Amino acid sequence: MFDGLDTPGRNDPCWCGSGRKYKKCHHEFDERLEELWEGGDEVLPRDLYKNAEDIAAIERSAQVNIGALDYVAEKIHAGCTTEEIDRWVHEYTVEHGAVPAPLNYEGFPKSVCTSVNNVVCHGIPSKDEVLHDGDIVNVDCSTILGGYFSDSSRMFMVGEVSPERRRLVEVTREAVQRGLAAVKPWGHLGDVAHAVQSYVEENGFNVVREFGGHGIGLEFHEDPFVGFVGEPDEGVVLAPGFCFTIEPMVNAGEPGIDMNDPNGWTVRTKDGSDSAQWEVQLVVTEDGYQLLSW
Ligand code: MF3
Ligand code: CO
Repeated sequence: MFDGLDTPGRNDPCWCGSGRKYKKCHHEFDERLEELWEGGDEVLPRDLYKNAEDIAAIERSAQVNIGALDYVAEKIHAGCTTEEIDRWVHEYTVEHGAVPAPLNYEGFPKSVCTSVNNVVCHGIPSKDEVLHDGDIVNVDCSTILGGYFSDSSRMFMVGEVSPERRRLVEVTREAVQRGLAAVKPWGHLGDVAHAVQSYVEENGFNVVREFGGHGIGLEFHEDPFVGFVGEPDEGVVLAPGFCFTIEPMVNAGEPGIDMNDPNGWTVRTKDGSDSAQWEVQLVVTEDGYQLLSW
């Protein structure tokens, strides 16, 4: 088999853990993947596909994830610090029995990423960083509940934002919608990348190359890397059960980034232009996709 994993006998329980006989469960699915792989397509190993139980557990995690961002939306205001945002996310998450995934992740010191204006991603909340009227900020929230991961981010516009900044935020949001609309079972990740990239570039902005989305569920970042630059019909096959994020980072100016902040985390645009990002998490289904967190 394409992934080197064992394949059950026809009457044995399916590898997915559904308890159903293999021939009635993932047998056809496996044959289809094997065929695509033989034809040169990129296919994910079967242990990365989520079953119904996994998806239900991710949904529960995502309810806390969405709730934390809704809580931020209620409280954010000009004059607050990004450290306060961190506190709101931490409080909400632990009060709902969950754990903020960023805290101590590869040494990240806070519970959420807050990326203001020209910060592309991985901004570290700080008591010294005050949000001012006219700022745009991405709040990237990731949650673990019962061992399952959810991940989404939103842009917030503080007070009166300039028309250029507003357009950047709105184009980036629409780019995610275009990406979602391109998700078709048995399609390819390149369909999503192409939909995002072409919409962003038609609007005169640029997609960051170095960062992208990822598989997610039992780990924070699972394979594959999900880039937002690409061509239709290329890249990983979107088979049902594949759970991943769509989270393009969009620069108002050039796509280049600066990763030289001594804190080892904060990523900025190289040219100092503004940057925006929205992130959603979804799972591919038999007839489309299910949005899990947004
Ligand atoms: N939430 C980010 C993502 O969307 C990852 C942040 S890693 C952290 O994948 F350590 F900075 F939190
Ligand atoms: Co993510």
